[in-house]
Amino acid sequence: MTTYRIAPSILSADFARLGEEVRQVVAAGADWIHFDVMDNHYVPNLTFGPMVCQALKPHAKTPDGTPVPIDVHLMVQPVDALAQAFADAGADLISFHPDASTHAHRSVQAIKARGVKAGLTFNPAASLDVLDWLIDDIDLILIMSVNPGFGGQGFIDSALRKIEDARRRIEASGRDIRLEVDGGIKPDNIRRVADAGADTFVAGSAIFGKPDYKGVIDQMRAALS
Ligand code: DX5
Ligand code: ZN
Repeated sequence: MTTYRIAPSILSADFARLGEEVRQVVAAGADWIHFDVMDNHYVPNLTFGPMVCQALKPHAKTPDGTPVPIDVHLMVQPVDALAQAFADAGADLISFHPDASTHAHRSVQAIKARGVKAGLTFNPAASLDVLDWLIDDIDLILIMSVNPGFGGQGFIDSALRKIEDARRRIEASGRDIRLEVDGGIKPDNIRRVADAGADTFVAGSAIFGKPDYKGVIDQMRAALS
């Protein structure tokens, strides 16, 4: 029985009310908060840093006080110093693009040495080959189904084949690794993405900017059930 997770991306939230937005989307049933870090170097956009993560951490809690994991997606180069800063800021998971690190294995080691879950993120044209040497060290694989940098883009169908490959690799590893997909996820395509093997779904523009966050998340869960 697969446990599915919905990870709303605050890239599409109202940046003038981020704390309130996090509280609202948690109340609407978000499993993780997806935190998109962009440096205007690795990707052509600039978002927020560790201080914003630290500020939002107290808001990422369910009404009974249960913490909701902050799932930090680093679209930055270099990786290591910022990864450490996000570990200090309370990130629960930190994923980075292996092509943005000179030594991806060492970058994973440094994240895990802080007691933070480590993930690798793969762009639409990136191969999964680095998993040959890292799958036994990571907790999360993040497959990009859009080119990183912006919300509101269309789902790139070739990601489905990569999700299938990643699922095969996870099964072969025998390890409990989350398979997260990021970009263009909507209530009307999430089932297809789950059928390819994903268990965790980033959704930004599908949720934020809509009048009823819970309605959208419930629609996604219904499509997954
Ligand atoms: C894109 C980000 C995604 C994005 C998803 O670079 O990594 O997380 O926010 O947004 P939507 O769901 O609107 O495609
Ligand atoms: Zn992301």
